Amino acid sequence: MKILGIETSCDETAAAVVEDSRILSDVIASQIDIHAKYGGVVPELASREHLKKLNLITEECLANAGLGFRDIDGIAVTSNPGLEGSLLVGLTAARTLSYILKVPLAEVDHLESHLFASAFTGIGKPPGLGLVVSGGHTRLVHIREWGRYEVLGDTRDDAAGECFDKVASVLGLPYPGGPSVEKAALSGSRGAYRFPVSDLGGSYDFSYSGLKTAVLYKIKYDLQGKLDGKTVCDIAAAFQEAALKPLVDNTLRAASECGAGWIFVCGGVAASGRLRELFGERAGKNVFFPDKRLCTDNAAMVAACGEFYLQRR
Ligand code: KG4
Ligand code: ZN
Repeated sequence: MKILGIETSCDETAAAVVEDSRILSDVIASQIDIHAKYGGVVPELASREHLKKLNLITEECLANAGLGFRDIDGIAVTSNPGLEGSLLVGLTAARTLSYILKVPLAEVDHLESHLFASAFTGIGKPPGLGLVVSGGHTRLVHIREWGRYEVLGDTRDDAAGECFDKVASVLGLPYPGGPSVEKAALSGSRGAYRFPVSDLGGSYDFSYSGLKTAVLYKIKYDLQGKLDGKTVCDIAAAFQEAALKPLVDNTLRAASECGAGWIFVCGGVAASGRLRELFGERAGKNVFFPDKRLCTDNAAMVAACGEFYLQRR
């Protein structure tokens, strides 16, 4: 089945065609430049931009695969969670196309779609463990089988990616924060500062608001707002360690307790080279990541998720 995937849940307008877990075409238009000057995504601007771009992106995506609309066997679209107005743009387009082309439609969950980025990695069959770690979510999921999940842990406050974005902003680093903190951290010393590492006892939950506040207080009170280049890099390096450690700790503890054969780490923060390094050091070959391009929001993962549900009908 050739599935056209559509993703507009946040600040990426994306379309992809997937067939039997193979990507035939994958186009992503990021809105980073539009939102960067505000230090975060402005919902109204995001939905307007999706409205402007989605038709063009979809046509480009089909053309790249050498396909026309009539070659599509099914449509998948992100239905939730996400920014209301942005979701509505993708949903309206997908429902209209499904109606006109007379092909089935799968309206899929955004977090489940991130897990389906594993379809392109050659990962084995479930049971396994998924860590979805993005700008909006930090969720640990026991994947009993595809379509049957148990949520083991969630964030109690901020998501990990959101924390990277906020810390980058107080450090004066550009949005999105994850990549810019990672870049600054490469020139910093991890041991220069000690920030609190979230530890919620026996729970698999995560918490990031304390860490965010600790960095803010360090800058505002201890350093009196004086941030030179070296200090920024040192804080970035120390913060990054404190932010990533609970992700690895909770995931590895859950994996051994539920006997998961593999671990799949996805979502925007999974693009972090340092996170990949930490998992590699502590867990070796059983940890899988999507290609960096497929960590942040994309439509190939949406199409893969839709393909699973449409084939099951
Ligand atoms: O999955 P995604 O595109 O959007 C959501 O569904 O939220 O994730 C975006 C998030 C942003 O918060 C961004 O700062 C973070 O992923 N991110 C990173 C890195 N690259 C992107 N966080 C840490 N290190 C990175 N290298
Ligand atoms: Zn996402």
